[in-house]
Amino acid sequence: MDAEKITVTTIHEMKKRGEPISMVTAYDFAMAKNADEAGVEMLLVGDSLGNVMLGYPSTVPVTMDEMIHHTKAVARAQTRALVVGDMPFMSYQAEEAEGMRNAGRLMKEGGCTAVKLEGGEEVAPLVKKMVSSGIPVCGHIGLTPQSVHVMGGFKVQGKDLEAAKKLIRDAKALEAAGAFAIVFECVPSVLAKKLTAELTTVATIGIGGGNGCDGQVLVCNDLLGFSDGFCPKFVKKYADLHSEIVGAFKSYVTDVKSRSFPDEARSFGMDEEVLSKLY
Ligand code: KIV
Repeated sequence: MDAEKITVTTIHEMKKRGEPISMVTAYDFAMAKNADEAGVEMLLVGDSLGNVMLGYPSTVPVTMDEMIHHTKAVARAQTRALVVGDMPFMSYQAEEAEGMRNAGRLMKEGGCTAVKLEGGEEVAPLVKKMVSSGIPVCGHIGLTPQSVHVMGGFKVQGKDLEAAKKLIRDAKALEAAGAFAIVFECVPSVLAKKLTAELTTVATIGIGGGNGCDGQVLVCNDLLGFSDGFCPKFVKKYADLHSEIVGAFKSYVTDVKSRSFPDEARSFGMDEEVLSKLY
């Protein structure tokens, strides 16, 4: 595998060549190392961190400091993959200047190469300012989890005429603003495919957007089957780590209780003579 670092230029070139782009979330050093070794091109330190790692009910409570803490851990893995840090809820929506400063923090303190933020036309001026200041931006439209309380739940977006037109405007505004990629979350496949063909410079990354996007992203814990709880329709589980992990812990508990762990091979000896002077 080519060990050259993935950059936004690589992503542009992959889009141009029609070469599918793989992205997964990662929130810590170990997961980043594993995904990178597997050849994933982009690692997203998503604000799904809130649900997946921190046990929050949504992404809304996630803070800048939490994002920076986890982005640092992923960046320390020094991956070949492009590391994208997610801008959490209310780190950029209130004021442009605050958004700029927080994106700067994510790059300077967190060590990511690019940032991701949710929204379309309404955030395009901020995206433009970020890009012109040297901050590569990945957009995120369709289902935007930070707005779950406005959207009234996690639903497929862009299904009726007005919603589909808005989605198209959003994607085009982000492309014109200079975003290098856009996540399409829970968007009808046919619409995602047509839009992907229309957008010439920005790579579309689907999550519930069908296979006509330029690339795909999944939450690493979903992909690995880390829990047996609710699983969105668009997820494909490539492993069943939940069963593996719970099974392993159960075996450990059994071994501890039967004193079959640790065995001789995993224990340390002592000179008999020394012992005899004690007992
Ligand atoms: O936070 C996240 O993990 C995301 C992905 C679902 C794209 O935004």
